[in-house]
Amino acid sequence: MLFVIAVVYVYLASVVGVTDSTPDSWYVAAVYEHKVILNLDPRVPVSRHDALQHMQKNLDIYEEQAARAAQQVWGPDPGVPEDGIHGFNFTRLSITSYLETIPDPQEESWNPCMEPERHNNTEVLQRLSCMARRNNLYLVANMPDLQPCPLKTSPSSTCPPDGRWQFNTNVAFRYMSDGLLVARYHKHNLYFEASCDTPPEPEIITFDTPFAGNLDEPAPPAGFNPVSAGIQPGCQCHPTSCQHS
Ligand SMILES: *[C@@H]1O[C@H](CO)[C@@H](O)[C@H](O)[C@H]1NC(C)=O
Ligand SMILES: *[C@@H]1O[C@H](CO)[C@@H](O)[C@H](O)[C@H]1NC(C)=O
Repeated sequence: MLFVIAVVYVYLASVVGVTDSTPDSWYVAAVYEHKVILNLDPRVPVSRHDALQHMQKNLDIYEEQAARAAQQVWGPDPGVPEDGIHGFNFTRLSITSYLETIPDPQEESWNPCMEPERHNNTEVLQRLSCMARRNNLYLVANMPDLQPCPLKTSPSSTCPPDGRWQFNTNVAFRYMSDGLLVARYHKHNLYFEASCDTPPEPEIITFDTPFAGNLDEPAPPAGFNPVSAGIQPGCQCHPTSCQHS
């Protein structure tokens, strides 16, 4: 089954409104559509070891695709599908071993690839961060997040009965030989996701990028014409939907 992309270029918001069509005002973003390797029995709880083994299979493919994207574009980059690492149709309990607690990038600056020891149980974050770092990409990915109660971002909200929040979450990592976790967004409009909570307040998350006109960016190939290359200008994006402006 081809998993349909519901991706999320939070960072594209920073270039909304670019109307100048000279090549310098363009950059290329890759969207990868992934045939997710599923847990065939998603309602049955598994160990963290088994959950990681399962997610590593999808991450191995992400790794290949990130490397491919890195060869084809000259700038910052890709987003990957929702649920593409862990799959779907979990129950609130059976997703437990797939969860990682994603620190809030607005509260702490953490590079999972460079400082893996700082937070336990963050193997997926580490792998994604290293992928961004190794391939010089901005990488946006989707994974489930466990946040203990009370929620730091909304301490007065009512805690779920089992004492923790579980969010369908998009994370973004910065490139430039780096891999810093730059954004964390908790999805609000859930779609048949019994394993996840709706955040008590909708989040608006953005992050800054150096691209579009930044001189540190590698230049597009000489004579490159984005229109004849079939590239759409000005994609205005929201974390869970994308519409062309
Ligand atoms: C997920 O659940 C939905 C609704 O219960 C079902 O229609 C669908 O076949 C399930 N998909 C997989 C891959 O298990
Ligand atoms: C990680 O887990 C180990 C073993 O349980 C523990 O000793 C260590 O303090 C934990 N580290 C952090 C940062 O929580």
